[in-house]
Amino acid sequence: MNHYFTDNSDLKSELKNIVYNYGEYHFEFTSDNGVFCKDRIDFGSELLVSNYLKNASSNLKILDVGCGYGFIGLTISKITNSHVDLIDINKRALHLCEMNIKNLKADANAFESNIYDNVTDKYDVIITNPPIRAGKKVVYGILREALNHMTKDGSLWFVIRKNQGALSAIKDISDIYDCTVVDKSKGFLIICAKSR
Ligand SMILES: C[S@@+](CC[C@H](N)C(=O)[O-])C[C@H]1O[C@@H](n2cnc3c(N)ncnc32)[C@H](O)[C@@H]1O
Repeated sequence: MNHYFTDNSDLKSELKNIVYNYGEYHFEFTSDNGVFCKDRIDFGSELLVSNYLKNASSNLKILDVGCGYGFIGLTISKITNSHVDLIDINKRALHLCEMNIKNLKADANAFESNIYDNVTDKYDVIITNPPIRAGKKVVYGILREALNHMTKDGSLWFVIRKNQGALSAIKDISDIYDCTVVDKSKGFLIICAKSR
């Protein structure tokens, strides 16, 4: 079975417009078939962004891992005036992300990367709604290896549903991170992890 993140180049394109408002900020994203949550903004991603923005600093360098069409990273980039790099393995998602960067005039750069394979910089914040369907090896890889791509005082923010292994993920990474559950809503946990 093909997931949205595997090869989807032969899938028919049907561009969609997705609107998101945050305070006085108005966003319009282009989405398409073959990407995660193509018709709307995912509840977990929105909860992650709104929690992150509650106390966010400006002018940071941020990495959005598994960016899809770019909702998490581009929203944060515009609102906090931060530079955001966005990575995914889904080529169509990256193409949409590039369109959205241009339309939003965001200070951002999207590139293909399987987990952190093509990531060379260090970031103040790494943020992700990880691809649960890709399996534990990929999800734990994204969470654990983030440490190698964070600045000394950096933080890792992520969302996972409780019934999709949030507590096991926290347990798995707690040898290297101090994890704080920042919010819980409708079965989704928002976690902020900092290096021990
Ligand atoms: C749950 S979706 C989140 C998408 C987007 N951030 C959002 O909030 O709408 C997870 C994303 O991870 C991507 N992904 C899957 N496996 C990956 C891998 N090995 N490396 C990087 N990204 C991957 C998928 O293509 C997908 O876009």
